[in-house]
Amino acid sequence: MSEIISTGLTSLLGIKTPLIVPPMAGVSGELILNSNFRMISTGYQPAEVLISELSLARSLLEIQSPTGKLPIGVGFLGWLLDKMPFDEAKSLLNAASSANVQALWFSFGSDLGKWVQYVREHFPTENSLIFVQVNSVEEAIHAVENLKADVVVAQGIESGGHGSGHAPPLSELLQGILAQSYNSSHQPVFLAAGGLANGADIASQLTLGAAGAVMGTRFLLTPESKYTDAQREALIVARSEDTVRTMAFDHARGTIDWPEGIDGRGLRNDTVLDFERGESINVIQSRFKEGTRTQDRKRFLVWAGTGVGSMNRVMPAKDVVKELHEECQQQLAVDSKKLDL
Ligand SMILES: Cc1cc2nc3c(=O)[nH]c(=O)nc-3n(C[C@H](O)[C@H](O)[C@H](O)COP(=O)(O)O)c2cc1C
Repeated sequence: MSEIISTGLTSLLGIKTPLIVPPMAGVSGELILNSNFRMISTGYQPAEVLISELSLARSLLEIQSPTGKLPIGVGFLGWLLDKMPFDEAKSLLNAASSANVQALWFSFGSDLGKWVQYVREHFPTENSLIFVQVNSVEEAIHAVENLKADVVVAQGIESGGHGSGHAPPLSELLQGILAQSYNSSHQPVFLAAGGLANGADIASQLTLGAAGAVMGTRFLLTPESKYTDAQREALIVARSEDTVRTMAFDHARGTIDWPEGIDGRGLRNDTVLDFERGESINVIQSRFKEGTRTQDRKRFLVWAGTGVGSMNRVMPAKDVVKELHEECQQQLAVDSKKLDL
């Protein structure tokens, strides 16, 4: 892979490609390796699982010192931290912070400041970078001015997995966020997330003023992700218009406590149709359970952003990063040539 594509993000993290693989609950697997910069998600798991994932990460990444900086991030769902007993939430934050991870990622919570303050107060020397994912300009202002986030991730409506059903399209959201003059001496970097599929997409976000891109769905199509072959096959044949924002899958699997306005984008199938036509939850759940067991595409859950229509093969994560890097460089070169003319 050729030279660094230098941005505020690459300097902040010491990486070559302005790309982050976000926390994806239940999908982490061996994506820790070969992903440029990767977040792992605490999802619905207890601290013990996170501790063992972090120690696995330390050994996979061959970080010899047990306290040396761990060049990955850990993602927390704000609403879930709020909901669990305070001691459990603290155990999760303590596990990540004491493992000296390079970044902590917070999303989907009405009181993220409480958790950001907790880690800053209790782990001042670890100094993990704070990423905050936002869905509106107001949330971005809060992240910059009150949370003093190091990195603000603008998540557009196109995103795969959970996000706000009220978020604007990514390009509108990002430009709205970048146009603000923030009342803060603190200068974060801004990233773009949602529906991005290839290196030209990363280049276009850089051109708009982002310091990098976040790509989730693209990394589901790697052997390292925990998605099954059937889920990956469903992604390969899917078109962008096959994705839908819905609460159907959360009802089907019994995870309906998400904050108001948050739903998930996945591939439309009969689970969604049943939900939309008012089928009873018991029936939806039992069909979903059976469909997941038999890996039936008509029933199971496949999160996917709108970029899925441009994704058509499974590749090792390392090769995905290399391809994205090269495509991004080529597009930036084309853009700068056009500007010279
Ligand atoms: C399978 C999957 C799981 C996700 N889980 C989380 C999560 O646990 N926490 C979070 O903040 N975002 C989560 N997201 C959203 C990502 O942070 C990111 O915004 C999204 O993947 C970007 O859109 P894209 O998938 O179109 O690239 C998830 C996305 C996917 C596809």
